[in-house]
Amino acid sequence: MKTEYNKYMVYFIAMIAALGGLLFGFDTGVISGAIPYFQPYFSIDDAAVESITTAGLLGAIVGALFCGRVTDLLGRKTVILASAVIFAVGAIWSGLAGSPAQLIVARLFLGVAIGVSSFAVPLYIAEISPARIRGRLVSLFQLMITIGILVSYLSDLFFADNANPACWRPMFYIGVVPAVILFAGMWLLPETPCWLLLKGREDESRRALARIEDPALIETSLSRTKDEIAQNRERAGWREIFKPWLRNALIIAVGIMFFQQSVGINTIMYYCPKIFLMAGFADNISAIWASVGVGIVNVVFTIVSLYFVDRLGRRKLYFLGMSGILVSLVCLSLCFTFNRDMGDAGKWLSIITVFLYIIFFAISIGPLGWLIVTEVFPLKVRGLGSSIGSLSVWIFNSIVAFTFFKIVNAFTLPGAEITVQGEQAGNPAGAFLFYALIALAGIIWGYFYIPETKGIPLEKIEKHWKEGGSPRKLKDANF
Ligand code: BGC
Repeated sequence: MKTEYNKYMVYFIAMIAALGGLLFGFDTGVISGAIPYFQPYFSIDDAAVESITTAGLLGAIVGALFCGRVTDLLGRKTVILASAVIFAVGAIWSGLAGSPAQLIVARLFLGVAIGVSSFAVPLYIAEISPARIRGRLVSLFQLMITIGILVSYLSDLFFADNANPACWRPMFYIGVVPAVILFAGMWLLPETPCWLLLKGREDESRRALARIEDPALIETSLSRTKDEIAQNRERAGWREIFKPWLRNALIIAVGIMFFQQSVGINTIMYYCPKIFLMAGFADNISAIWASVGVGIVNVVFTIVSLYFVDRLGRRKLYFLGMSGILVSLVCLSLCFTFNRDMGDAGKWLSIITVFLYIIFFAISIGPLGWLIVTEVFPLKVRGLGSSIGSLSVWIFNSIVAFTFFKIVNAFTLPGAEITVQGEQAGNPAGAFLFYALIALAGIIWGYFYIPETKGIPLEKIEKHWKEGGSPRKLKDANF
């Protein structure tokens, strides 16, 4: 009976985990289909669009920055409940925005919830799930981000209506639905046993454990958590993480997130209907349709990568993916360079290359970034290391989102402008070539820094760093 009950609880946790990831992805993607409508609605230029998109990311930086401390202070559950409220209020606020300035503030506010949930939800899952399914639930979170992006593209498509200039409003409103479900679900779930112990609330911790764990394992699990807490008390935090023996781990975490973002993935995620309009699509709806295709390909190939990551290993996937990204970016750049001469064929060729680019990203540096960041740090600084990883993502992501159209315009040679819906616009050929150069740098960097962590126990990785081993030699190290 008991195990049955636990199983339901675990499914329930998985569902909530899924929702946290879905909301994160949804609010990442929703802006893309809304842009082609709110841009003419408010008559704003690309720079203002960049500011609105980046506002959400700045909010995420703030959320990720303070989240560690707040989740320790108030508890994981309380913080996730609060973030569900911010998600809901932010969604309505964005939809109601009466001016671009209001939209900026609303997205900034909502961004805080994205940043908070990108840290607090995986933390909650990791602490509350029974050890045997922990890994699976954490990677489920990653997959759900991509599903959330797809859902947002689909709902954008559902609400897109060329006859209604205000159709971007319901695109934002609908984000309330998953937020309310997250709130209700989270309300029913217990606080994590680990946090309760941390606060000296041992009885409550035991009761929380009783709702998830096998009764025979409760006391063992309790004392293991106590040990872990005692270990964590000793952790030196920031000072430790900057010590020379962890330098490589730090370079790997920040470096891989730098390349994950700087190959320009989110220029496609946020601006893809706009990019398809630049490629020659005549109207918003068909451009959003093409984005739905991007969303589907992203989900499917993220699943493919989950299958391959422990079979092919990290380095092979990295080089395969990054080389593919490099080639597709060069092709995309060529497509835009010869855009005028190729007519309709150019449009289709650029779609195909965008799809190839997404495939190579989704099988490699997308999921690998998040995975490797959790692997390279020793337990003592793993939490801090992962938060440095998430923070790097949001910072680099904001820089890319904020500069995309500026780079497009700066790298448009005189006479190379393209026509988007009857108006002259910058040509993104130079921008994609620029991202291609970053991908090339990423390949060279990866040769030295991407560690092959496949099948290597995490304690061995720590030992390797302590012995002064290089990332490239990890696989061959003699343990
Ligand atoms: C990245 C996100 C990106 C997503 C696309 C993730 O790995 O961190 O910035 O939007 O992949 O699937």
